[in-house]
Amino acid sequence: MKIMAGNSNLPLARAISAYLEMPLTDASVRRFADEEVFVEIHENVRGEDVFVVQSTAYPANDNLMELLICIDALRRASAKRITAVVPYFGYARQDRKPGPRTPISAKLVANLITQAGADRVLAVDLHAGQIQGFFDIPTDNLFAAPVMAADIQTRYGTQELMVVSPDVGGVVRARSLAKRLNNAPLAIVDKRRDRPGQSEVMNIIGDVKGRMCILIDDIIDSGGTLCNAAQALMDEGAAGVSAYITHGVLSGGAVARVSNSALKELVITDTIMPTEATAASDRIRVLTIAPLIGEAVRRIADESSVSSLFD
Ligand code: R5P
Repeated sequence: MKIMAGNSNLPLARAISAYLEMPLTDASVRRFADEEVFVEIHENVRGEDVFVVQSTAYPANDNLMELLICIDALRRASAKRITAVVPYFGYARQDRKPGPRTPISAKLVANLITQAGADRVLAVDLHAGQIQGFFDIPTDNLFAAPVMAADIQTRYGTQELMVVSPDVGGVVRARSLAKRLNNAPLAIVDKRRDRPGQSEVMNIIGDVKGRMCILIDDIIDSGGTLCNAAQALMDEGAAGVSAYITHGVLSGGAVARVSNSALKELVITDTIMPTEATAASDRIRVLTIAPLIGEAVRRIADESSVSSLFD
């Protein structure tokens, strides 16, 4: 097997290859003067089981194009099997038509990856589990929950915890984390969103008074959802609020918003390479999921169970 990387998250790709104790495939993924992507693989991949690590995070279109062109290069170089390892699958929030005459871009991206020549996909905390069905090739969706639960136990294990979903759509994810935390109780924030990028908290469902609240979500983008939820929880008498979010998109002024919020701490994973502002923030901590992805890659290559990673 071989591990190849695009440029979107080289530290994560290197950490995965270190976990697997194998070097990254010698390849260059670069730009022509007009910004066209060009990929050149400098070693033989004929007949190999190749895993291409590339998050389609900001700049989403450039990173997606890199992924597609890497897959095309591998296919034309006769790789036996190509797995697109997409720790953060961009465009995932466009998974249905929110109104008439709108696209389902997540499906389009799934088609592009498949048509480029991927044989399998490996992603982490897809925004909606059904996105697996957008691919007609095997798709593994890993969960960051075990990594988060271990960290929460270490930090807050002695406190009265309450797992909180910041919206109704995240209840399944929150319930699964709560189960890992000795069946901690669950609360739900009734969030309404009038337009993309702006959210307003309506109600908290559940009694959070005196509890250390752990907000869990798949994505933090503008930070509006989370910061509003944290404030509402504190207003309801929570003892403290920390957030565990898989994908730190953190666009615009999100890092500053988090720093000025009621959140004690925001914990994200390294599915997206942290920006300098994120890395410099003393309110944000990054957990690595490289061992989890590395182990899943190893099991796919060995054709052993991936789901048992989450038992
Ligand atoms: C939405 O359903 C997602 O799970 C996140 O809650 C959302 O993308 C967060 O966005 P923002 O940080 O911009 O409020």
